[in-house]
Amino acid sequence: MIRFFLNSEWVTVTDADPSCTILSFLRTEMMQNSVKEGCAAGDCGACTLMVAEASEKGLTFYTINSCIALLGHLHNRYLFTASSLGVPGLNELHPVQQAMVDFHGAQCGFCTPGVVMSLAALYQQTLQQGGSLSALTDEDIHQALSGNLCRCTGYTPILRAAKALDSYPQQNLAAALEATEGVQEWQPSGAESILEQGGRRLFQPQSCSELHHLLAAYPDAWLWAGGTDLGLELTQRFKAPDTIIQLERIAELQGISEQEEDIVIGAMTSYTSLEHGLANPFPSIARLVHRIASRQIRNLGTLGGNIANASPIGDMPPVFLSLSTTLLLDGVDGPRELPLQDFFINYKQTALKQGEYIAAVKVKKLAADERLFCWKISKRSDDDISALMMAIWLKTDGTTINDIRIACGGMAAIPKRALHTENALRHQPLTLDSARNAASAISKDFKPMSDVRATAEYRLQVAGNLLQKLVIEYQASDKAEDVA
Ligand SMILES: Cc1cc2nc3c(=O)[nH]c(=O)nc-3n(C[C@H](O)[C@H](O)[C@H](O)COP(=O)(O)OP(=O)(O)OC[C@H]3O[C@@H](n4cnc5c(N)ncnc54)[C@H](O)[C@@H]3O)c2cc1C
Ligand code: FES
Ligand code: FES
Repeated sequence: MIRFFLNSEWVTVTDADPSCTILSFLRTEMMQNSVKEGCAAGDCGACTLMVAEASEKGLTFYTINSCIALLGHLHNRYLFTASSLGVPGLNELHPVQQAMVDFHGAQCGFCTPGVVMSLAALYQQTLQQGGSLSALTDEDIHQALSGNLCRCTGYTPILRAAKALDSYPQQNLAAALEATEGVQEWQPSGAESILEQGGRRLFQPQSCSELHHLLAAYPDAWLWAGGTDLGLELTQRFKAPDTIIQLERIAELQGISEQEEDIVIGAMTSYTSLEHGLANPFPSIARLVHRIASRQIRNLGTLGGNIANASPIGDMPPVFLSLSTTLLLDGVDGPRELPLQDFFINYKQTALKQGEYIAAVKVKKLAADERLFCWKISKRSDDDISALMMAIWLKTDGTTINDIRIACGGMAAIPKRALHTENALRHQPLTLDSARNAASAISKDFKPMSDVRATAEYRLQVAGNLLQKLVIEYQASDKAEDVA
């Protein structure tokens, strides 16, 4: 059984397909047709919805792509659709909706409910953080809309609407929710299925020990983190797993902690949390995360999911391969540590054993003479997958490359170190000549393929050019701060 809040009341669902998406449930079971389906792949943002979660810190509002999010995600949470946003008696329309009308932010209207939800989340987050709507910057608005594609408006009217939000009577949804009955104690326990139908089931364990029991009982279960890769298995490949175990309620797998020499990042830490949590120890990673997918995807997508998915074009594996990284694994046979270097075996094949999962990622902090550089090369700045990803860890006194690790995505069947290129650069002067000389070693390390994102020649050329960019960027920054 799950329950979620929509349209001023708690909705209870006892009988639903365990792998049903939120979009599918709303449109087919609840006739909520303000929620649109465009791509069903997390790309276009037409299905964007706003969710609020209650915790001891208060309410957190965030957006999701409902086309690839499981219905189970809604349990004990508040859901907002474009048709449930205006609070009766306050305003007929939410200020975001009124501004979209007044500034002609819609033409065909297909993207509009999603755009409204993204702006509503920005609106509500601003109020929650005690910020001012009049202080919203172009970048704030841009980030909020990074996952909403509009083919008609050219975005300018939408941006004007967002800029004008402060001029409407304020509507605080958190205040309205506080007057409701609120979330209930968890029910049922994490060891019981939360949805079951036709012999298929969905679990949401709340601890690693509950997870271990479930892994032993259901060895073929899908481990569902944010679902931003797995969701596409449902909607594009029409798979229907017998058992899904959602990891999102396990607090032990969340968050970032600092040790003397290392940073430990829980596998279930979302990209949105990484953007904030890594801003200090690894600013270049935080800036790179900003370029991953869209705000909606970053809200649910996790670091553990990116690594476990083992895509050759995932953005995080090259970064952590270039650093000194150990995976903390756990499972039915107990915990073990594995260098990330040994994790990727073949195309989408990893060293994870059955019944095992990534609990956390442990990465060494940078010393004063070490720097990290990350470059994502893609056709679009937002909401796009890398054609090529390169991360470089550099140890230097400013004149000589004392040590270097280079890792790439998009260049081979797995995320991979460029060992020949590293050798060509190690102990060389940190100069453009060294970079140019080492560029020829790239083709010894990689035989990339040509595909829709880039040709093999382009990938090799850009990878070589990035070695020069390393020198230029290092020399351009005179203080010991890493660069993205
Ligand atoms: C529109 C769109 C844009 C995207 N853009 C980018 C991008 O720019 N860069 C990028 O790198 N990726 C991108 N992705 C891919 C995806 O968002 C990331 O790979 C994300 O990090 C996956 O994390 P998740 O938590 O959603 O994983 P899930 O989809 O839940 O899981 C992915 C895989 O990992 C396994 N898994 C998850 N967590 C664990 C764990 N702790 N232990 C063991 N196995 C686990 C799952 O069983 C599954 O096989 C994009 C996806 C979409 C839909
Ligand atoms: S329908 Fe396109 S992102 Fe969901
Ligand atoms: S108004 Fe037509 S897609 Fe945005």
